Amino acid sequence: MTKAIYPGSFDPVTKGHLDIIIRTSKIMSHLTVAVMENPRKVATYNIEKRVEMLKLVTEPYPNVDVDYYKGLLIDYAQQRETDIIVKGLRAISDFEFEFQMALVNQKLNPAIETLFMMTNSKYSYLSSSIVKEIAALGGDVSSLVPHEVHSMIVDKFK
Ligand code: PNS
Repeated sequence: MTKAIYPGSFDPVTKGHLDIIIRTSKIMSHLTVAVMENPRKVATYNIEKRVEMLKLVTEPYPNVDVDYYKGLLIDYAQQRETDIIVKGLRAISDFEFEFQMALVNQKLNPAIETLFMMTNSKYSYLSSSIVKEIAALGGDVSSLVPHEVHSMIVDKFK
């Protein structure tokens, strides 16, 4: 059984995240999408809302579950008895930071591996921050976020 964790802020989930979830769920027997705190970011949606949105969009995928954790990713992986962390990679700009995080996590627990899933080129420009900026300025984000959560995202900025 190959279990993996896909951690992130998901503030909010985008079509880019969902694409990574779907593709990873096809190669892992089980995938846990874990909403976590990123100390470098101030969240717009609380953890409950982020989990709710992710549960809605992952409902069609029976081997995917959604969870949240406040603390170190490595501790969470150990708690879930999972030794694979999956991260999405968009542009070269993501690489340096993700590389650092992967090496720090490897130092903290060498038994846990980080695997990188390349973005779908369709979503290489997409991020939660871009979605929020467009939505806050009244732009149309319907092509950027899963349809199940579109109204929840837009309502936040009304
Ligand atoms: O979607 P994001 O914001 O890029 O996700 C980053 C996240 C939440 C995966 C990262 O900040 C994280 O792993 N947070 C938990 C704390 C931790 O384990 N940090 C790594 C050691 S410094």
